[in-house]
Amino acid sequence: MILVTGASGFLGRHTMAVLRARYGAETVVGVSSADSDLMQFDQALALLDRVKPEVVLHFAAYSGGIGANRTYPADFYFRNTILTANMFEACARRGVGKLIYPMGGCSYPAKATSPISEDQLWCGYPQPESAPYSTAKMMGTVAARSYRFQHGVKATVVIPGNMYGEYDNFHPLDSHVVPAMVRRYYEAQLNGLDEVVMWGTGTPQRDFVYAADVAALMPFFIDNDIGEGPVNLSSGTRTPIKELAETIAKLVKFEGRITWDTEKPDGQMVKIFATDRMAQMGLSCPTPLEAGLRNTIDWFAANYATRGDGLRL
Ligand SMILES: NC(=O)c1ccc[n+]([C@@H]2O[C@H](COP(=O)([O-])OP(=O)(O)OC[C@H]3O[C@@H](n4cnc5c(N)ncnc54)[C@H](OP(=O)(O)O)[C@@H]3O)[C@@H](O)[C@H]2O)c1
Repeated sequence: MILVTGASGFLGRHTMAVLRARYGAETVVGVSSADSDLMQFDQALALLDRVKPEVVLHFAAYSGGIGANRTYPADFYFRNTILTANMFEACARRGVGKLIYPMGGCSYPAKATSPISEDQLWCGYPQPESAPYSTAKMMGTVAARSYRFQHGVKATVVIPGNMYGEYDNFHPLDSHVVPAMVRRYYEAQLNGLDEVVMWGTGTPQRDFVYAADVAALMPFFIDNDIGEGPVNLSSGTRTPIKELAETIAKLVKFEGRITWDTEKPDGQMVKIFATDRMAQMGLSCPTPLEAGLRNTIDWFAANYATRGDGLRL
């Protein structure tokens, strides 16, 4: 059996579809917090006793945008620490052979040099705003080495880049750059606005990866053991923020002006992930940005139409 925690989340939903198609629906069990509160160690053990998995994909996490990270830093630290610690220990106690654990590119040092390779992970403090989340998640790399050494759990840490796609968090106040722009331009088009003002110059470059591409790689990590050390999973492409905005505006058919308020800060100028290690394994995240955005926007528009201006689509 294969168990996916956090199966109701963004990456979890993409991954459930991939695993069910690949291994058969009867072999894959996905759970959310409604099934088991994995903050409680006894519930983590009970879940493993119930499902008896050989493989666990531990996606359950407490995640959010920069606003939530600023307001609830202690919750981000505490919950992610416990969710990580509980599942590694429970898997060891119940003899689970393999554990796949994702953490974010935000765990890399704030001053990491792009393209950011896996060996830069411990070379500096991450962006302070999300450090309680990102350092708690980073403990997954320590756990993976420790449980592999002491208990023989084949633990793999994957580091997806800036993921976007269907099922993302489109909360108007607390989402990442792609879902935030999708909502903004979609609503601007809907309301007939003739201008959208963006912060900064639009020149910073980012590396976006389609969540379905990341999910499609999970069978590789289930079927193979890559040994110690994390691996980046990203597209390795560079997209200026201005190009992202113009592509999304075009796809939602926003015909107004895009104005850049260059008095506002740009943030980090380049943040790109090295994809050499994944390429050596024969892996890639190939969906072109425009194709992935088209799917994302179609999904957002369909849900927006049926569920309205929900906080979380
Ligand atoms: N999103 C990204 O860009 C990104 C990038 C790199 C790595 N990651 C990592 O990938 C994983 C999935 O991220 P995501 O964006 O898919 O997260 P998400 O959409 O926020 O989903 C979080 C999942 O965790 C579950 N969960 C939260 N608290 C729980 C608890 N106490 N007990 C059991 N389950 C609990 C949630 O269940 P409910 O639905 O019931 O609340 C939900 O299924 C996380 O480990 C994250 O750190 C994400």
